[in-house]
Amino acid sequence: MILWLAACRPALDAEELRDPQACAECHPDHVAEWEGSMHAHAGDDPVFRAMNAKGQRETNGALGDFCVKCHAPLAVALGEATDDVDDLPPELRGVTCAFCHQVDAVEGDHGNPLRLADDGVLRGGIRDPVENRAHASTWSPLHDRDAPESSSMCGSCHDIVTPLGGHIERTYAEWQGSLFAKPAFGLSCGDCHMRGREGVAAEADDVKLRRVHEHTFPGVDVALIDWPDRERQRQQVQDLLDDTVNAWLCVSPTADGTTLVVGTLENVASGHFFPSGATADRRVWAEVHAYEGEREVWSSGAIAPDVAVASASDPSIWRLWSTLLNEQGQPTHDFWEAASLDPGVLLPVQTTLDPNDPTYVSTHLQHEWLVVGAVPDRITMQLDVRPIGLDILDELVESGDLDPSVRDAMPTFTLGSTVLEWRLGTPSNAGGLSCVPDAPPVVAAPE
Ligand code: HEC
Ligand code: HEC
Ligand code: HEC
Ligand code: HEC
Ligand code: HEC
Repeated sequence: MILWLAACRPALDAEELRDPQACAECHPDHVAEWEGSMHAHAGDDPVFRAMNAKGQRETNGALGDFCVKCHAPLAVALGEATDDVDDLPPELRGVTCAFCHQVDAVEGDHGNPLRLADDGVLRGGIRDPVENRAHASTWSPLHDRDAPESSSMCGSCHDIVTPLGGHIERTYAEWQGSLFAKPAFGLSCGDCHMRGREGVAAEADDVKLRRVHEHTFPGVDVALIDWPDRERQRQQVQDLLDDTVNAWLCVSPTADGTTLVVGTLENVASGHFFPSGATADRRVWAEVHAYEGEREVWSSGAIAPDVAVASASDPSIWRLWSTLLNEQGQPTHDFWEAASLDPGVLLPVQTTLDPNDPTYVSTHLQHEWLVVGAVPDRITMQLDVRPIGLDILDELVESGDLDPSVRDAMPTFTLGSTVLEWRLGTPSNAGGLSCVPDAPPVVAAPE
């Protein structure tokens, strides 16, 4: 009897199709993974809601649907929301299944120019989908990570130009300028962000094993309020960050008894800038400590967990983030006032990964510190990342738009591959620098 009912239940109607919970019966893994993603979180994200509220107030509503169009895109497409998400039912908040899987055209390169089909057919990367009673299915190159077009579906939502013309988030443009967008190399957004595994695409009759794709979409941001799967999300972000950057730490005593410390960083695994996306909100910095025996004699970038790195009085700090500039060229934290962006990031690999190839372009960055008045025998370095600066959050708490508990939840990640320790006695190279690991890409000897 139950079987008979199930078999005869009609296809999902337009309204049911919008609800991720209507997919859970047959796609339980996809739903569970997506529920813990920043895509599901995009409409509930407390920092998004605080910034949007502040923006609406300060522009007297002129901001309109600018923010909501990307953070609750289905609601805007259906005409259910414009300037906030407060009254939206859960199924219209965030970047949902029904939004991504109904895209049938990309009509621009920023600001969510995605067109939705109105035929109720769900698009995906499967070329021979098994028929099912809930919905019709079809293959689409916009959804197949093996097709180069697929990056335009993701990318055109991951590029923001403000109403004042500031190209302030440019993950898509960054990727387009990298090795990864070159057909010969070819790694799409989905290749790196939707890990494949063998499995079933649906818990249903007649399905076969195929490559299915993870829907957790880790990046840098994490949920800062009670949200499904927070532990897994944090771990996935940590794992992704751990292999992103190559680092070198070089040391050389100088003639006048001071010690020169040189840090080198190279982005080797991120398909765009590091950091990317909201690079003006990210806080990325190097933390360096020098010791004589057990005693710490010098440090740079040693920031306590509850201190805003932007306000730390440390003139020698090496920081990697961008600054938004308003129409007068003054720094601002408010998207809606941004007319341009002053970038401060690591570029992705441009032409080839092989340093011996003549077309190789080195995109490393370097920073120098001087340790005065001590002769360290041990120096450590690491790169730290806060998804959003505490100074940004402080402004939102102060304006009454953000609950202070959100600030307390902001994590600091340390990139595993950048944790280095130099010890006195490490052999010097031809240029007189003593480096760990031994061979930095193109570190010049000190003048
Ligand atoms: C009654 C079960 C059932 C329900 C409910 C269901 N699906 Fe499916 N879906 C399937 C089956 C079966 C396939 C085909 C799997 C295969 O061929 O391996 C499929 C395929 C897909 C595909 C891939 C299409 C392609 O060609 O690549 C997408 C995307 C999809 N479903 C999304 C959804 C979404 C979103 C929902 C909720 C709104 C949903 N499905 C609800 C059974 C279901
Ligand atoms: C940000 C856009 C996006 C969202 C949101 C999204 N998907 Fe997908 N999904 C994709 C893409 C892209 C693929 C195809 C990947 C490929 O084949 O290269 C895919 C593939 C699938 C497939 C086919 C099997 C597979 O793993 O390839 C199913 C089923 C599916 N999604 C269901 C869902 C469900 C259910 C939800 C919501 C709970 C959802 N998706 C949310 C982009 C999205
Ligand atoms: C070669 C693999 C690779 C490709 C291709 C790639 N990414 Fe990433 N992406 C990463 C890694 C690694 C990180 C984590 C390090 C970082 O933040 O850059 C990341 C981080 C991100 C983030 C977090 C933002 C941040 O601060 O860095 C976003 C958003 C993102 N990617 C979107 C995209 C989109 C959209 C595309 C396609 C236009 C894309 N990625 C292509 C590897 C890739
Ligand atoms: C409708 C617009 C839209 C589309 C289409 C879209 N995204 Fe996103 N994506 C978002 C938004 C909005 C967020 C972040 C929400 C937040 O942090 O509040 C996000 C978050 C992410 C993150 C995590 C970023 C971080 O900072 O940690 C990654 C990675 C990502 N998306 C990759 C993709 C990939 C890959 C695709 C294509 C398969 C895609 N996105 C398609 C809007 C979109
Ligand atoms: C074109 C689509 C788009 C528009 C427009 C957009 N966002 Fe986002 N937003 C994203 C994507 C994609 C991410 C994912 C992470 C990233 O790229 O940093 C994101 C991330 C965020 C985050 C979390 C990351 C961070 O550090 O800030 C906040 C907060 C946010 N957006 C607020 C807003 C506000 C407020 C507006 C309007 C003033 C807005 N967004 C407009 C697509 C958009």
